[in-house]
Amino acid sequence: MNQLPEVSWKSLHRLRAAFLQPGPPLPDYWESETDLEGYDATFAQRIGWKWDYVLEELRRRGWSPPAGQVLDWGCGTGIASRAFLDHFGPGSVQVLWLWDRSGLARAYARRRVHAKYPGLEVQVGLVERPDLLLISHVLGELSPPQIEQLTHLVARATATVWVEPGTYEASLTLIAVREKLRATLHVVAPCLHRERCGILAPENERHWCHHFAPSPPEIYTDPFWGRFAHEMNIDLRSLPVSFLVLDRRPAPAVPPNAVRVIGRPRVYKPHALILACDASGVREYRLTRRRLPDAYQRLKKGSCDPLQQWQREGDEILEVRPFPDNVGSEGLACSNASAAEARANCGPGSD
Ligand SMILES: C[S@@+](CC[C@H](N)C(=O)[O-])C[C@H]1O[C@@H](n2cnc3c(N)ncnc32)[C@H](O)[C@@H]1O
Repeated sequence: MNQLPEVSWKSLHRLRAAFLQPGPPLPDYWESETDLEGYDATFAQRIGWKWDYVLEELRRRGWSPPAGQVLDWGCGTGIASRAFLDHFGPGSVQVLWLWDRSGLARAYARRRVHAKYPGLEVQVGLVERPDLLLISHVLGELSPPQIEQLTHLVARATATVWVEPGTYEASLTLIAVREKLRATLHVVAPCLHRERCGILAPENERHWCHHFAPSPPEIYTDPFWGRFAHEMNIDLRSLPVSFLVLDRRPAPAVPPNAVRVIGRPRVYKPHALILACDASGVREYRLTRRRLPDAYQRLKKGSCDPLQQWQREGDEILEVRPFPDNVGSEGLACSNASAAEARANCGPGSD
């Protein structure tokens, strides 16, 4: 870990209270550079780890971003842009556009991206038809008409990567956006198909599409993160995320019998229950210790690759195979760590 960031806990408490306020739209809460510095060193880092998880999955699935103009809408401190650049590099980016209703945020994000990628053209403003649209953690602050407007922007973009907290509300809103656009845009992730979302089946009303991103393990022993967890009453181990990736270009091919695991499996003594999604819908499946002892042990240890290939009979999982990918599942963990480290090395103190 780097030297401890200096943050104003008072400012972070005020921001946290604003984020927890029910009922959008929220009034602009960025009051000073101190707010942005503190947010970027804490909340935004956690959001960056979620982006690492999503972007790594995209790479693993064989997706690459369209070249051209990238727009980070509701950019805040620009963590989504920086995570994107850390993963895919600036090579495909002609211009990075940063947009936020807050002028303070726009200026801060631009400065931070520029410090890290000095050769990249970074503009503040909106672009009508972005080649790539990045959206991160804005839903809680937008009214239904604002979400509708944003959906029109998604419809005009070539591709969109949209990352939100893994809450019931955020997930259901992303699903509604997906339902509106899936006839005209390809669905790349988290879904492995373009059919109607299985979560919308009446029997799945209690479920939502969410996943868990890993945090860098070193934060659990880091005094700064310990204080952050204590002050903000946040569980550092849990990084629930919902996301949606849409693309005008065809989605990468999906291997046969591929499934996407939703949420966390529930592990009991003789078996585990796993909620999973494929083109046939969202259902709970049973993996027994007797039939699949290794897979069961992995689940028991809390390890579950969200992408897998299964042989099934009814609700019973007969065989589990790894999802083929470009970098391999070990590469996944390494790349997550390196992207997070790369960002940490360019923290507020290092500008
Ligand atoms: C929780 S922050 C997320 C910032 C950043 N995207 C991230 O993931 O860290 C939400 C951002 O959305 C911006 N925002 C809220 N309503 C907006 C609107 N109507 N138009 C543009 N930006 C908006 C806020 O100013 C804030 O910077």
